[in-house]
Amino acid sequence: MCGIVGVLGSHEAAPILVEALKRLEYRGYDSAGIATVNAGVLDRRRAVGKLVNLSDLLVHEPLAGKSGIGHTRWATHGAPTVTNAHPHQAGRVAVVHNGIIENFRELRAELADKGIEFVTQTDTETVALLTEYYIAQGATPVEAANKALDRLQGAFALAFLFSGEDDLIVAARKGSPLAIGHGEGEMFVGSDAIALAPLTDRISYLEEGDRAVVTRTSLEVRDTHGALANRAIKTVQVGATRIDKAGHKHFMAKEIAEQPTVIAEALGHYLSAEGEISLPEPGLDFTSVDRLTMVACGTAYYACLTAKYWFEQIARLPVDVDVASEFRYREPPVPARTTALFVSQSGETADTLAALRYCNGRADRIVSVVNVPESSIARESDLVLPIHAGVEVGVASTKAFTCQLSVLFILALKAACDRGEMDAATLADHVSALRSLPSVLSTALEANQEMQKAALKLAEARDVLFLGRGLMYPLAHEGALKLKEISYIHAEAYASGELKHGPIALVDKTVPVVVMAPRDALFDKTVSNMQEVMARKGRVILVSDKQGLAEAGDGAFATIELPTVPDAVTPILYAIPAQLLAYHTAVAKGTDVDQPRNLAKSVTVE
Ligand code: AGP
Repeated sequence: MCGIVGVLGSHEAAPILVEALKRLEYRGYDSAGIATVNAGVLDRRRAVGKLVNLSDLLVHEPLAGKSGIGHTRWATHGAPTVTNAHPHQAGRVAVVHNGIIENFRELRAELADKGIEFVTQTDTETVALLTEYYIAQGATPVEAANKALDRLQGAFALAFLFSGEDDLIVAARKGSPLAIGHGEGEMFVGSDAIALAPLTDRISYLEEGDRAVVTRTSLEVRDTHGALANRAIKTVQVGATRIDKAGHKHFMAKEIAEQPTVIAEALGHYLSAEGEISLPEPGLDFTSVDRLTMVACGTAYYACLTAKYWFEQIARLPVDVDVASEFRYREPPVPARTTALFVSQSGETADTLAALRYCNGRADRIVSVVNVPESSIARESDLVLPIHAGVEVGVASTKAFTCQLSVLFILALKAACDRGEMDAATLADHVSALRSLPSVLSTALEANQEMQKAALKLAEARDVLFLGRGLMYPLAHEGALKLKEISYIHAEAYASGELKHGPIALVDKTVPVVVMAPRDALFDKTVSNMQEVMARKGRVILVSDKQGLAEAGDGAFATIELPTVPDAVTPILYAIPAQLLAYHTAVAKGTDVDQPRNLAKSVTVE
C-alpha cells in the first residue's frame, strides 16, 4: 500500500513527481521521497511524514533533472524513518517499491556473505543492492534489473533508475498494480492512472509478471515468460476532482455529501427509465446460480454482509460471506453452480485479489463490484459491476460503501426476478425505494447538526458499542469501523440480541451505545435490548425514524431522526449517521480525518 511514480520528461522532474505523489498519498503517508538523474548523476531527497515535508525539503535542497522516480510509503518493513524511506539507493541504482519481497532476508544474507552492507531495515534496499551487485559483475542496468527481478519472491511494483542513464526507467509488476503513461516525447510510470492524470490520459496497464524498459520514445514490455508483449493503450478519464475538496474541510466530508449525487449516478447505470434492471456484458442469469460466495475486506465486507440479507430474504439464494484474509487460507470447497462475488472500492486489495484467484477455476464465474474498472480485481473478473462513486480519497470509505450497497441491492433484485421469487409489482416498489434514495439521503444530510451534537457525546468516550438487528447488524459494524479508524476510539458492534450473552457486562454510564433501529419488523426486539442497556445506565444514542423515536426515544442520551423509508433500503440511509457520527467525533478529537494514523486507502499487501 505505497504509491510509486516515474517520469522521463521534458521538464524538471521534481515538481512533477511531487504532484503525482500528492495524488498517490491516499496509498500511504509515512514518508516520501524522490530520486532524479541529472547529467548522469543520480541523487535523492527523502522526508518522514506527509508529503508536505518532502516539498519543504526540496525548497531548501532542490533536485535537478528531467528523469526521476518517487514514492509515498505505508511502512511494512522498518519504522517510518528517513533511512527507511524510498527511493532506496545502492551505488548506481535507485528503486521505489510497492509490495513485499517475501524472500528478502535470504537475499540479504546472501549479499551479506559477499560483504555487502545494509543501512536500512527494508526489503526494498535488498532489491537496490542486488541490482547494484549485478552491475558490479558487469551486467548492463537492464540486465542487472532483470537478474534481480528473477530472484524476487512476493508482491511488487518496482521502478528502477540508474546513474548515467538520463533516459531509462525499468519497471516491473507482480501482485501490485503498475501503469505506463504515454506522453508526447515523454513517458511515465505510476501505481495507478490517478497519479498520472495531469500528465496524460493515455495509459497502458502492465499485467502480472510484466517487465518494462521505458525511454522517452519507446516502451518494451516482456511478459512473465520473457516474450515481447503489447499492452493496449487506453484513454482513461480520471476526474481531476480527487485533489479538490470542493470547499469542504476534508475529503471525507465532501464524499459524504456527494452520496445523493453518486448514488443517483450509480442507479442510472443499472436501472432503465422504466425500472428495468440491466447489467454490463456479459450479464448474469441467476437461474444458473445455486449459491453465492461473497468475499471482501473492511467496509466492503460489511456491504457483502448486508447483501447477504437481501439475497437470502428476497431472492431465497443461499449466500456465504467471509473476509478475504480468512477465506484465502481457509480454502473452502466451492460447490457446483456457485458464483463468487468480490467487492472492493480500490480493486487492488491484496487479500481480496488472492481470494478471487482461489475461486478462479473453482466457481462458475467471478463477479466483482468495484470503483476502479481498470483495477486488478476487475481485470480478473468475468463480470465487472462498477459502482460509479467517483474517486474516493478519504481513507475511510463512505460514498463507495453506499454505492456498493446500491449495486448489490439491484443485483439481489435481479436474482429474485430470475429465480421467480419476485413479481413485477414488488420489483417496482423496490425500484421506487431505490430511486427515492438520493432525495432521502439529502434530507438525512440536513440533520448534520443533530449528528454533530450526538458525536460530541462520543468524543470523550473510551469505548463505544454499536447495536443493530437484521439489516442493521452489518451497519452497526460499519459504524463501529468508521468510528475506530478515524477517531481512534475503541468501538465494537453487536447483534442487539447478542448483548445479553456477555457484552452487556461492558455497559455502564461511561459507555455510549449507538442503536441503529428503524421502525421495522424487528424494532420492538431492539427496543427491549435498548432498555436492558438503559437499565444499566448505558447512554443510548438512538438512530431511528419519527415513529421509532416517538415510541422509544424517551430517556435516550441522544436521538437522531432519519426519514422513513422501506425496510429493504434502510442500510443505505443509515450509513449516513454511521459516517457523520464518526466524522464529527474525529473532528472534535482533532485526528487526521482523511489520512488516519497507521492506515492507507488501498491495502495492496497482505
Ligand atoms: C474502510 O473505511 C477502510 N478504509 C477499509 O476497511 C477498506 O474498506 C478495506 O481496506 C477494503 O478496501 P477495498 O474496498 O479497496 O478493497
